[in-house]
Amino acid sequence: MVIQEGHEFFNAFGGFHHVYANKKALVSLKKGTPFNKDSVLVFELFEPIEENHAITEGERKVIGVMVKDPKRYPETGGWGFEDFKKADPNQRSVSNMKEQCFSCHESQKANDYVYTRLHD
Ligand code: HEC
Repeated sequence: MVIQEGHEFFNAFGGFHHVYANKKALVSLKKGTPFNKDSVLVFELFEPIEENHAITEGERKVIGVMVKDPKRYPETGGWGFEDFKKADPNQRSVSNMKEQCFSCHESQKANDYVYTRLHD
């Protein structure tokens, strides 16, 4: 997806993004069932470059990660959330998962707090 200026999430997530899932998460995405422990979802965001009537990927801005571990993260739907600026493991930016991440993802309760659906 490319989030453009004017979209409600532009400030936080403007740009070109991909969503990746590990095998455990993929099983639930396919079946539409709640996610098992150790499911991992990754959101990768790139600066968009608009040129010659095409949008391509520029610099990597951030990588967002969700890890399912209900015992460890009981207050955020069983998910742990972390952000890594420019995909640098030393540049974490989440100090409050509930406020910075879960506040939005909570709206997806019916889908185990995950926005993404698999394409048909
Ligand atoms: C402003 C609302 C909002 C906030 C705040 C937010 N997200 Fe998301 N997040 C979204 C939306 C919308 C998507 C779906 C994007 C898509 O459909 O491609 C998403 C997708 C994701 C995904 C892929 C799995 C899924 O749910 O689709 C991960 C991983 C993720 N976000 C991590 C985070 C992390 C980590 C934080 C906190 C730093 C965070 N998000 C904060 C709105 C938000």
